[in-house]
Amino acid sequence: MKNKILLSAALLTLTLSASAQKSATITLKADEGKQIIPKEIYGQFAEHLGTCIYGGLWVGEESPIPNTQGYRNDVLHALQELKVPVLRWPGGCFADEYHWMDGIGPKANRPKMVNNNWGGTIEDNSFGTHEFLNLCELLGCEPYISGNVGSGTVEELAKWVEYMTSEGDSPMANLRRKNGRDKAWKLKYLGVGNESWGCGGSMRPEYYSDLYRRYSTYCRNYDGNRLFKIASGASDYDYNWTKVLMERVGHRMEGLSLHYYTVSGWSGSKGSATDFSKEDYYWTMGKCREIEDVLKRHIAIMDQYDKQKRIALLLDEWGTWWDEEPGTIRGHLYQQNTLRDAFVASLSLDIFHKYTERLKMCNIAQIVNVLQSMILTKEDKMVLTPTYYVFKMYNVHQDATYLPLDLECSSVDVRGGRRVPLVSATASRDKEGKVHLSLSNVDVDNAQQVTVHLNGVKATKAIGEILTSAQLTDYNSFEQPDVVKPAPFRDAKVKNGILTIQLPAKSIVTLELQ
Ligand code: AHR
Repeated sequence: MKNKILLSAALLTLTLSASAQKSATITLKADEGKQIIPKEIYGQFAEHLGTCIYGGLWVGEESPIPNTQGYRNDVLHALQELKVPVLRWPGGCFADEYHWMDGIGPKANRPKMVNNNWGGTIEDNSFGTHEFLNLCELLGCEPYISGNVGSGTVEELAKWVEYMTSEGDSPMANLRRKNGRDKAWKLKYLGVGNESWGCGGSMRPEYYSDLYRRYSTYCRNYDGNRLFKIASGASDYDYNWTKVLMERVGHRMEGLSLHYYTVSGWSGSKGSATDFSKEDYYWTMGKCREIEDVLKRHIAIMDQYDKQKRIALLLDEWGTWWDEEPGTIRGHLYQQNTLRDAFVASLSLDIFHKYTERLKMCNIAQIVNVLQSMILTKEDKMVLTPTYYVFKMYNVHQDATYLPLDLECSSVDVRGGRRVPLVSATASRDKEGKVHLSLSNVDVDNAQQVTVHLNGVKATKAIGEILTSAQLTDYNSFEQPDVVKPAPFRDAKVKNGILTIQLPAKSIVTLELQ
């Protein structure tokens, strides 16, 4: 801890004054909107890790916790309200040790396995293919299956696709029918391995490219189902991985993934989720915003090989990664979620909206009880996290037309040169023509008067919601579940085509222009 304070003091230069009003200017170019923000940018990820599946999403039909076919009702309803567009499963690292046939048929006959990646927990396979795909139906979302390339066979993956999607008199379709599901599911997104450079097989990109070509060849399109095949992509700054895959796999893949976590902390630890300083917070904002540069560089490489942008980039793991909560099981990646996490969500989404010509899906890690989750559960209790509320306030942008904007604001310099702008914003026009503007005032101490020049929008008023709290470190606990939650926001006025917003310190606002 002492080291941490010393390092922070040495490396951080804050140029903020205390408790003053600041200003920012936005020029909204509402008549220049072209690109749709695919709803899949708001995708989620559920891994067999800690209590994400067991206890989080799934309690089983015999549980005293109120459930629908084994899915806990409170979580199900909260996720239905969130409008989850796509859910990635079963991993993560777990995917490359998962053998899907162990997770079908009568539960009593399903073999157990050791979840080697995540704390050595015994996995009883009671949540398998049927339970996942039926959950997606209940949520009204697209499933995204991550296939096992690291320790599985080509035959195994090929048969899984047949099991899920074949309508015919095929062996796997008949096995599915025997297990109680007559009609094939529709499966679009198929990941061919996960982190194949690491937990997914420690491969070189050249070797993985060949494996991708081999495995994907046998993943067939059955009976009108069309797979969108996704190659396992780079981590963070590994631009060579992207280059090699574009060269060697090219148009054999519909999508290429990327993982980027906002990991901070000093002295070897990732840092506490709830106990952090203002300096730590600004550093985290900088690290989170760095995704923009990382996206640009991967996209530039993809552009060299695919000028028509036919291959999508999918950021299928992102979010904050802190030290596990004290007292929780090691390897279960259970962490609390504060207002700081909410800002990582809003700032990231603002950036993602800008790159959707190439970036077609993002999956925050993870949906319940793991890393930057939407929801935390403990036995029969559930809390919604600040990140949940950002996703809810932002879901107006799903499938809306992205509206470009110019933003001028002051910034803060953090730890040897990283500049963090203090205001972030994004805007879109939905299918009914309504314009929404989301704004984040990252500044901990100062309110911002934001002046928005509304080019191309006729509006007379703006109303919306605000997410803020007394302290950056505030979070929702099982004892106090409503510390950080949205409230109505009316501090915005429109006059003569100019919208003026009084944005309180450390706040996130979404407005509808009327
Ligand atoms: O989300 C947790 C883990 O992070 C995933 O299993 C893995 O893909 C990544 O390293």
